[in-house]
Amino acid sequence: MKTLAVMSRKGGAGKTTVAVNLTLAARAMGLRAVLADADPMRSAHEVLKGREEAASMLFETSASKLFTLTEASRRAGVELLIIDTPAAPEADVAEAVKVADLCLAVARPTYLDLAAAVLSVAVIHRLGRQGLIALNQCAPARAGVEPPSVMKAFEALRFANLPVAPTAVRARMVYQTAFAQGRSVLEIDAEGTAAREVRDLFSHVWRRLNGERPAAMRSANDDMGRARASAGLRLAPSA
Ligand SMILES: Nc1ncnc2c1ncn2[C@@H]1O[C@H](COP(=O)(O)OP(=O)(O)OP(=O)(O)O)[C@@H](O)[C@H]1O
Ligand SMILES: [Mg+2]
Repeated sequence: MKTLAVMSRKGGAGKTTVAVNLTLAARAMGLRAVLADADPMRSAHEVLKGREEAASMLFETSASKLFTLTEASRRAGVELLIIDTPAAPEADVAEAVKVADLCLAVARPTYLDLAAAVLSVAVIHRLGRQGLIALNQCAPARAGVEPPSVMKAFEALRFANLPVAPTAVRARMVYQTAFAQGRSVLEIDAEGTAAREVRDLFSHVWRRLNGERPAAMRSANDDMGRARASAGLRLAPSA
């Protein structure tokens, strides 16, 4: 079994959105995936509570119960356990970090979110765990051209030599519509662009979890490399 902790020090970065969509994407691909809602706010539960399979897919839990839940999931033949955590520094979600094979730090492409994600990955690595940053709520690319905020965010993270998922999750209404219906974006429109980006993000995360080399950056992000000289190599306030 592989365990993924979805985390962010910043509230509203998109932890629950990413955790729920990745869980449902994994299940749609045939994996035995379950979601542990370790946030006392119970947002994941709020979204998924009306689903028929909720009882076997979603577990409301707390930090002190995570180890037991992880062991029980392993024994039950779960292949992927995803943990949705509250907005808090790593010390406050240490139990999730400890049981995770990979900690996914979700960040919007803003200065404060990126600064928080950089700190998170440093702490995660110090704790001997693997970290990966996923950008969320990014403005869409227009005619294949990334908005400067997204380009700078990728560039800053890659310059800082931090692992970043090549697929940026865009700000799209469909993520909110899907939650209002207790569904994932794949279930709203399986061929849509949001579904594609969730599948791409899942594939990258799954490869990382299984120790495979990450796939090459997708072409939209290749522009980042070309823009290296001009993009500004630090976390610029506008990033
Ligand atoms: N890619 C996206 N596109 C559009 N809306 C989004 C996206 N990601 C998140 N949102 C919206 O932003 C809000 C916050 O997202 P979410 O609840 O997933 O964040 P969170 O990090 O789990 O928050 P919290 O810290 O409160 O747990 C929600 O209303 C959600 O629907
Ligand atoms: Mg949440």
